[in-house]
Amino acid sequence: MNIILLGPPGAGKGTQAKILEEKDGLKQLSTGDMLRAAVASGSELGRHAKEIMDAGHLMPDSLMIEMISERVDQPDCRKGFILDGFPRTVPQAEALDQLLAHKGLSLNAVIEIAVPDEVLVQRIETRSRQTAQSGGAARSDDNVETLKRRLEVYHGQTAPILPYYERSGRLKRVDGLKSIDQVTAQIEEILGATVRG
Ligand code: AP5
Repeated sequence: MNIILLGPPGAGKGTQAKILEEKDGLKQLSTGDMLRAAVASGSELGRHAKEIMDAGHLMPDSLMIEMISERVDQPDCRKGFILDGFPRTVPQAEALDQLLAHKGLSLNAVIEIAVPDEVLVQRIETRSRQTAQSGGAARSDDNVETLKRRLEVYHGQTAPILPYYERSGRLKRVDGLKSIDQVTAQIEEILGATVRG
């Protein structure tokens, strides 16, 4: 079972991917987490990624496609994977279709977690506050200015992939305003229906 979770910043992609990883053994592949690991390592890629992420822009398609292409072949993806944060542009979505076909892998579901912008701002602010309260460092892109830019980028560059998947009948939508458990239930219903064919 290979799936994509789509949605704007703060929609709950990471939250749901972690729950599904634990429950179903699918591997969460978060491109944001991969880039943050590169930043933490102090590598050249990390330095470049930090600049782009802090500005709320997107990393180059070619780099992200290569990153995912290498990752889906790893043994921990054998049971399946959940793409969280990828694809983020139409070229990434097209390249993903090509690379999965080339590797003989299928895409079982593309699920959009729909949440309006005003709720996203509140959620990101809460996440920042909670991280600070628990003693961790808040994400450097979780401030109002960068979030505004991330939302613009989502609507301008990422949302066009929704019709891309809709046209091929692969897009499913869940109501991301429901509680975390209710969102999980909606996703599991879609996955169950996919398995039943
Ligand atoms: P990335 O890390 O992917 O960030 P994002 O898409 O902005 O997503 P977030 O992690 O902010 O949100 P989420 O949807 O995972 O929500 P979460 O579950 O945390 O990317 C960061 C940057 O990396 C990008 O800006 C870009 O620069 C770069 N990048 C990454 N991938 C790239 C790519 N493919 N191409 C180019 N560049 C790329 O939830 C948020 C909060 O809400 C949490 O506190 C959570 O507890 C809460 N919450 C979740 N669900 C609910 C609910 N149902 N009800 C109430 N609260 C909820």
